[in-house]
Amino acid sequence: MLLAPKILSDPRGPIMELTARHGRIWRSRTVAKGGLRDMVWLLGMAHNERVLAPAYRDDFSWQEGYSFSMEPLFGRDILFLTDDQPALGREGAHRRRHRLLIPAFQAKLDDLYLPAMAKIVKHYLDALPLGTPVDLAALVKQVTFHVVAALLFGAESESLPQLLHWFEDLGLGLFSLIHLRIPGLPFYRASRARQRLVSYLESRLAVYRRGEAEPPTFLAQLMGAEGEDGERLTDEALVAELLAFLFAGYDTTASMLTSVLAALGDHPQVYLRLRQELAGIPLDSVLAGQLPETPYLDAVLTETERLFPPLTFAVRGVLRDIEIAGYTIRKGDRVTYSAYFSGRDPEVFADPLRFDPLRFWQKKPKPYSLLGFGGGHRPCIGKRFALLEMRLLLATLLLRFDVQFGPQKSDKMFFNPTMQRKDGYFGTLTLHHGAE
Ligand code: HEM
Repeated sequence: MLLAPKILSDPRGPIMELTARHGRIWRSRTVAKGGLRDMVWLLGMAHNERVLAPAYRDDFSWQEGYSFSMEPLFGRDILFLTDDQPALGREGAHRRRHRLLIPAFQAKLDDLYLPAMAKIVKHYLDALPLGTPVDLAALVKQVTFHVVAALLFGAESESLPQLLHWFEDLGLGLFSLIHLRIPGLPFYRASRARQRLVSYLESRLAVYRRGEAEPPTFLAQLMGAEGEDGERLTDEALVAELLAFLFAGYDTTASMLTSVLAALGDHPQVYLRLRQELAGIPLDSVLAGQLPETPYLDAVLTETERLFPPLTFAVRGVLRDIEIAGYTIRKGDRVTYSAYFSGRDPEVFADPLRFDPLRFWQKKPKPYSLLGFGGGHRPCIGKRFALLEMRLLLATLLLRFDVQFGPQKSDKMFFNPTMQRKDGYFGTLTLHHGAE
């Protein structure tokens, strides 16, 4: 079976159809280092646990799963491509790097990140036209790019359009199958864009190192981080991680925000209930970056993660021959777990296609059932940051405006590797009563 092109144009249909036809383990082929490799799809909660649980960490490798696409453009020295397996001779590499990066994601920094995010959100909302359809998908892309670029490495506003352009070129090269630096090919453009982004990041770092400007809080944490043995991040590692964070934290957040808005457009009763929850919050305090608890908004986000995870599946390399449910998986194969399938699994979620935030009302999902942010021993390091940003943007938008969703041009999606709307997602805004 050679399914890669079909799966890579929009994996959602093939994942559901092939699982219905072949059951919860099936095999496709994928391009990996060294040529075509078998990719074994392990679907459903029990299989998710088999891939993600700490007990099985020695069976699988992130580096072997992702290096083919990521290493040429992001370098090897990033959290994503580190493993702890002795089999790879990299014992503790992930743990050590994680310890240096995690201080930048601490909860106690929320109070510093929120006002900075709020300022950026306000800047874009101030510029929105009223009474005419606006592409909300394009809006959230601009905001999420600005937020990561500004908060993570202090990008200057005037550099953002150029940085975004380079970054889009980088993304296009990520999944190109031909890794040749020949002018005209996506990989060539991506490599050039990478060089330019790296130069930009190096120049920002140099400004901070010379004391000509204060680094943003996030970067200051990384620059100051010190491991138990006195280990620090080199400038080269800092630049590589920042680029990887930009990749991991921009399109993902934009994809999920667009899905939330589309779900609100499709479910007016959810939209109304959310507005009711937010009604008690003063707009001024949100604009200043103060956000009280919002349990219904949180449930809407969790339900969106269940039905519309930005990353439909994730990949690992297999480090030794293993058998799962009588199925032999060989060393060198790839395996994949799918948050998209798990979230729609009728064995786990009753009436799975119904968008119902109340299914998570004061209830935690079962272990290994909800994986929009990964899970097990190595979940998304940026989940807290992403949720903070999404809650803030949605609260500000809905406190300030009434939104009439539609008309939409289409509901076509593309895979990049997050799910994105091809023709945007439109809504018409009017000023909300009291927000004048
Ligand atoms: C809605 C937004 C986001 C979603 C849906 C998301 C999703 C994910 C998922 C599914 C994984 C695990 C992949 C796997 O198992 O192979 C992951 C890992 C990761 N994410 Fe996120 N992410 C988001 C935002 C962010 C942000 C804002 C950042 C950083 C600023 C970030 C940085 C990372 C990193 C570095 C990893 C690798 C963790 C490790 O190797 O230990 N993500 N993310």
